[in-house]
Amino acid sequence: MRSDIEALRSEVEAASLATPAELEAYRLRFLVKKSPLTELFSRLGSLPADERAAVGKPLNELRQSAQARYDAAKAVLGNGPAGPAKATDDWSLPPAMPALGSLHPVTLTLEEIKQIFFRLGFSVADGPELEDDFHNFTALNFPPEHPARDMQDTFFIRKDASDPTRDLLLRTHTSPVQIRHMLDRKPPIRAIMPGRVYRNEAVNYKSYFLFHQVEALYVDKHVTFAELKETLVMLAEMVFNRKVEYRMRPSFFPFTEPSLEMDIWYESPGQPGRWMEILGAGMVHPNVLQAAGIDPDEYSGFALGMGVERMAKLRYGIDDIRLLYENDVRFLEQFR
Ligand code: PHE
Repeated sequence: MRSDIEALRSEVEAASLATPAELEAYRLRFLVKKSPLTELFSRLGSLPADERAAVGKPLNELRQSAQARYDAAKAVLGNGPAGPAKATDDWSLPPAMPALGSLHPVTLTLEEIKQIFFRLGFSVADGPELEDDFHNFTALNFPPEHPARDMQDTFFIRKDASDPTRDLLLRTHTSPVQIRHMLDRKPPIRAIMPGRVYRNEAVNYKSYFLFHQVEALYVDKHVTFAELKETLVMLAEMVFNRKVEYRMRPSFFPFTEPSLEMDIWYESPGQPGRWMEILGAGMVHPNVLQAAGIDPDEYSGFALGMGVERMAKLRYGIDDIRLLYENDVRFLEQFR
């Protein structure tokens, strides 16, 4: 029996108690009612009285040290997940949620603009960010060498001085998707073109070398300027979720005629109110319809384009576009 006690003692001392699982395995092996230890205790009774004391003492010590090892390891590991419930545990409390990401303000704004256009029956058209001269400029009625090409400082990927039609560039607006979309199908066309655009501009609080645009294109028989104006006002009121005070100024884009820019009256806390430009628009130029294979004598259309970052800045009162690209979590987590 003494050798049984010694064997059990070595087993108790060799057991690893480094994890909650090992702690629990140890408890089930050595500290429950039916264990090798209690079995040895039950055998005590059948021993002659004089031997009983001599064996009982080391057996008691083993029981105490087995319990002490358990208590010490448990104190170190804490009352882990497998630990018994305490009277103070409140199971009705909501669980601690893991930290979730949030949607970016540009994504939130773009989603809202898309939803507005979906309600008006527009669908989404997509195109490449690496464009050629034809789709980004020529088909949009930018004549070669025309200064209008300088309105958009372009990142060229391939520049061919002898043959500009071979130029490859990062698209400077999403208007080339209008061309691709019109070449692809017949009117009536009602589509929006959301996406990234690139311009070689110095970075400051209001400009960045990449940003997002949404353009909308509507081509059908008898599309009128009045419809364009009505759409613009409805769009502005839905994006800003209020009645807006607006003005439309004559403007110039090679691909629309007439063209306009729309401003809304904007007041932010602590600043005097001012006019803020929110978009450009116009009636699709006949040359553009023609370049895209649509007969301008039969069809007319309007197009509009806006910067998503600018809309997000106005909606959320963000005063520096760079915040939208620094990915500082303290900034981003405010948008849920
Ligand atoms: N593509 C123009 C720009 O980037 C915006 C625009 C789109 C203007 C459609 C009018 C019509 O400046």
